[in-house]
Amino acid sequence: MSQDALKLSVARAALKYVPEGQVIGVGTGSTANFFIDELASIKDRIAGAVASSEATAARLASHGIKVLGLDEIDAPLPIYIDGADEITPQGAMIKGGGGALTREKIVASVAKAFICIADGSKLVDRLGHFPLPIEVIPMAYKPVSQVIARTYGGQPTLRMRDGKPFVTDNGNYILDISGLTIDAPQTMEAEINQLAGVVTVGLFAQKGASICLLGTADGVKTLDFSSKDN
Ligand code: A5P
Repeated sequence: MSQDALKLSVARAALKYVPEGQVIGVGTGSTANFFIDELASIKDRIAGAVASSEATAARLASHGIKVLGLDEIDAPLPIYIDGADEITPQGAMIKGGGGALTREKIVASVAKAFICIADGSKLVDRLGHFPLPIEVIPMAYKPVSQVIARTYGGQPTLRMRDGKPFVTDNGNYILDISGLTIDAPQTMEAEINQLAGVVTVGLFAQKGASICLLGTADGVKTLDFSSKDN
């Protein structure tokens, strides 16, 4: 099966977690896009969605799905559904390959459950092969790069697009840190989030996935972390 076919399979499988008549949180990325397209088929059964990026808001709206802000709903959301760049067997994730990590973490933080939808290539024993994204205030990208390289030994790169720094929906820059060995994702998440100039690190470990629907050639596997500490 192609990677896209696996993404579609988990997007379809996620529909059964969507509660009737409620507002749900929706993530960003190619797997989330498959989910949004599937969600369109049951759009009359939900009250709307909170989007984790401008791109997701536009895609939801293009299907006629009502897009709501967090100021328009009574948190918590029942579920947040999103992809991941890497996920461990404990449910800790790297996210932010699409640059939407801050809004993703905000929407996930007000959801009771994080349903991760991912093709099987995203499951790893240890996080860090995928470069770790960090959203930073533009003026801070150099000092944050230096601290990260000194503290963790990774190689920070300023994310570029069309010859200019990539700018997030929030007007910030992204550092991608390669060469990391992440043995303690919860601790690293807390430490990096404390650095001056860091908006959000793309580690989702302190609050990881509740469930992961993993697309494999043998079908969709369900990894349930709801009773585990990530
Ligand atoms: C977006 O910023 C990311 O966190 C995505 O959720 C993540 O990169 C997974 O994207 P794909 O589904 O495109 O692999």
